[in-house]
Amino acid sequence: MNATANSEAVRLRVDGVSKQYGDMTALAATDLVIRKGEFVSLLGPSGSGKTTLLNIVAGAAMPSTGRVLLDGRDITHLPSRERNLGMVFQHYALIPHMTVFDNVAFPLKVRGVAKNEIADRVRAVLATVRLDQLTDRKPSQLSGGQQQRVSIARCLVYDPPVILMDEPLGALDKGLREAMQFEIKRLHRQLGITALYVTHDQDEAMALSDRICVMNNGSIAQLSAARELYYQPTSKFVAEFLGESNVLPGKVTSSGSTIEVELDEGAGSVRSTQPCTLKPGEQAFAMMRPESISIAATPGQTAADNKLACTVEGVEFIGGVSRVRLRAAGNIALSVKLLSSHKPLATLASGDHVWVTWSPSDTILLDRTHDA
Ligand SMILES: Nc1ncnc2c1ncn2[C@@H]1O[C@H](COP(=O)(O)OP(=O)(O)OP(=O)(O)O)[C@@H](O)[C@H]1O
Ligand SMILES: [Mg+2]
Repeated sequence: MNATANSEAVRLRVDGVSKQYGDMTALAATDLVIRKGEFVSLLGPSGSGKTTLLNIVAGAAMPSTGRVLLDGRDITHLPSRERNLGMVFQHYALIPHMTVFDNVAFPLKVRGVAKNEIADRVRAVLATVRLDQLTDRKPSQLSGGQQQRVSIARCLVYDPPVILMDEPLGALDKGLREAMQFEIKRLHRQLGITALYVTHDQDEAMALSDRICVMNNGSIAQLSAARELYYQPTSKFVAEFLGESNVLPGKVTSSGSTIEVELDEGAGSVRSTQPCTLKPGEQAFAMMRPESISIAATPGQTAADNKLACTVEGVEFIGGVSRVRLRAAGNIALSVKLLSSHKPLATLASGDHVWVTWSPSDTILLDRTHDA
């Protein structure tokens, strides 16, 4: 193993960090490595431990066990102000009586940077976040998105090794949120900042992150790039938390490159060609995304496909796509997403008997004992 080469790229390392409040475990022993220039999001439901982990990295909370390393240096016991990390919160925490310029200059003044250099650096960073026309305004004279850009500029200006953000766009409305996501992504690309970003918005996490750390009940459920989380979830929790999914309970009945799962309640069987470690006899969930399923009047010609006879329960128009809700034998509920422009949709009605078909390569098998 080439440990030296690996550690060179590592900016932040969280090593067996946990947090206990009395007998309540807010964070179970957690390992996390963030490389230089990487944008990692902590994504998970309320109370899953996102802020707890971020606060431990920030130095705002002390871990019960474990260590935090920044560029290989143990900072676990270093006071927050000496860690030099950038912080952006949901509430911007700008200094109300200071102008935009002075708010952004503040961290440099505190660090004793010379006046000329402060002016140059503040102007440059305000141009980067596109606030160079508003330098003399007070925070109260700015929109929410502009205030949030000031607080981001206030971090960028002293070039911290990591920027920590806790739901920074949580207070903004949808349009502004999306514009700011684009802005943050642009800054990340342009400046190569390293960021640890907390959100409970899956679209935001997917739009921004190199990797997403999905958290559940104080533990990391899965840590991967967005595409892998979506197409190769390792648990029912992740499959259901990220996007929509169909999850069919059953039992593995074969092994090899194509694995067969017999569904519960005699509902039939499905096949998967996705890599899987489950053995014959083990309980499994077969999972497929609603957009990878087709609907047809007949079982179709492709023998390799999975098929289930279903009854249509409803068709919902949700803009560019429509959701068809169906029910198969064994009381299995299925959701299929089709482009609304798809012609056969127009004639589909509740009560229709149809076939759903999908490919074994779009079928993921999940360990059922994992999410019991
Ligand atoms: N100071 C504290 N004392 C006791 N329990 C705490 C304390 N801080 C957090 N917790 C608990 O730890 C768990 C994790 O909290 P945390 O704030 O990390 O969640 P979160 O994922 O950030 O949630 P949210 O999305 O709601 O912000 C929660 O159950 C919370 O109630
Ligand atoms: Mg939180």
